[in-house]
Amino acid sequence: MKKNLILTGMMGVGKSTVGKKLSIKLNMEFIDTDKVVEINESMSISEIFKQKGEAHFRGIEKNVCMTILKKKNCVIALGGGAFINSVVREMALNRCVCFWLDIETKLLSKRLLGTKKRPLINSLNLEKSLTAVYEKRKDLYGLADFKIDCNKSSAPLITKKIAKIYETRPN
Ligand code: S3P
Repeated sequence: MKKNLILTGMMGVGKSTVGKKLSIKLNMEFIDTDKVVEINESMSISEIFKQKGEAHFRGIEKNVCMTILKKKNCVIALGGGAFINSVVREMALNRCVCFWLDIETKLLSKRLLGTKKRPLINSLNLEKSLTAVYEKRKDLYGLADFKIDCNKSSAPLITKKIAKIYETRPN
């Protein structure tokens, strides 16, 4: 049975796009933790933040991740903040192969321009708020098994790189 493959990193870096491609390439199931949270709560992530607050969201996110991480043969795209939770992170590091998709916040801010789906981000000062989140998180993202530079690579190329590392890594 294959170890789960985890994708972590900032919102908008492409975890879901790359994750879907990887799941096809590696013949594994794809799971996006944000989607599971939304289905369980019958609400969008933005609505959960607005109506119940971030602390409530983080609680649900943690429970969802702990259930999903126990599954087998999955490519899992974690919500951008999930790996920051020490319980989720340790479980992911112990059971799965974790990849940090890293990208400069300048590039990210161009991609996320106009988004209404990311409640943590202040759209009036996009680059600054993304940089603040990135600076707080980068050391913890850095605990992932592999860091993938996504600045100059397309999703197919990133997928290829990750699949190669995953398939050839020593167990
Ligand atoms: C968050 C990232 C989002 C979502 C929520 C919080 C974060 O997921 O979980 O808005 O804290 O970085 P994506 O990384 O899939 O956008």
